[in-house]
Amino acid sequence: MEQKYCAIYLSGTGNTKFCVEKFVKLLDENAPIIAIEDEAALPALKNYEYIVLGYPVQYSNAPKMVREHIVRNAALWKGKKVFCLATMGAFSGDGAGCSARLLKKCGAFVLGGLHLKMPDSVCDSKLLKKSKEEKIEIIRRAEEKIERAVLQIRSGKYPQNGLGSLPHLVGLFGQRLWFYGKTKRYSDKLKIDKARCVGCGVCESICPMKNLTVENQVAAPHGKCTMCYRCISGCPQQAITLVGKEVVEQYRLENFIS
Ligand SMILES: Cc1cc2nc3c(=O)[nH]c(=O)nc-3n(C[C@H](O)[C@H](O)[C@H](O)COP(=O)(O)O)c2cc1C
Ligand code: SF4
Ligand code: SF4
Repeated sequence: MEQKYCAIYLSGTGNTKFCVEKFVKLLDENAPIIAIEDEAALPALKNYEYIVLGYPVQYSNAPKMVREHIVRNAALWKGKKVFCLATMGAFSGDGAGCSARLLKKCGAFVLGGLHLKMPDSVCDSKLLKKSKEEKIEIIRRAEEKIERAVLQIRSGKYPQNGLGSLPHLVGLFGQRLWFYGKTKRYSDKLKIDKARCVGCGVCESICPMKNLTVENQVAAPHGKCTMCYRCISGCPQQAITLVGKEVVEQYRLENFIS
């Protein structure tokens, strides 16, 4: 029987979108793939038996927007077979497990998890910065891992990255416990450099949380940032920062694929 897949994802700088699209299209080329902020498309997912949920890991946790979305739409997940795909810059013990545990509480059956290392999206920090060639190589390896995972699934075995009690402990003690305060709530730490901002409205139009508005020709954040880094990497004036004090190198996946 043909499996009816669909997918939903959060992606700030394009990594997760790219990985989810590649993974899901290999499983089912007709699968609908929707961005998490596209609330209008959500009801259609009820008709699908299999759902792939993708997101970037933040401080070894699922982003606040994703966690909240799962709980708010508990009825959607009930009885569904869900596969959790988590992208990350370096490490997460249980990046996929963080959503898997919530999904199970909502009555979903979690089929498996996939962890994919991708270029780091924190563009206002010097940590983990890589050359263009290194980024291209990281992306190539992730693509290979996706292809292997799909072959494994076709043979009836779902990868289990980040699921189970050992990864849970590694994620918890490796990072989440020490950084939980960072992802517990939405962030109110987004900073706009008013001297740089020209009020172009790009950030307002792309934020999945609708956290930014342009007032009097300057962007203003409203304390509901899910730390996706889309606006920080997309601002033409490099006027937005969150973790660091200045933008080191804006990152968008589309600049590294042909
Ligand atoms: C606020 C923040 C925290 C992050 N924390 C982690 C982390 O704990 N471990 C890790 O490996 N990557 C971490 N990353 C890197 C992202 O998970 C990674 O680059 C991801 O692929 C970005 O996906 P996207 O382009 O779909 O947003 C973090 C990124 C951000 C913005
Ligand atoms: S994208 Fe940058 S320059 Fe444009 S309004 Fe937002 S902060 Fe200002
Ligand atoms: S304010 Fe920027 S970093 Fe925060 S959620 Fe919106 S687009 Fe993402």
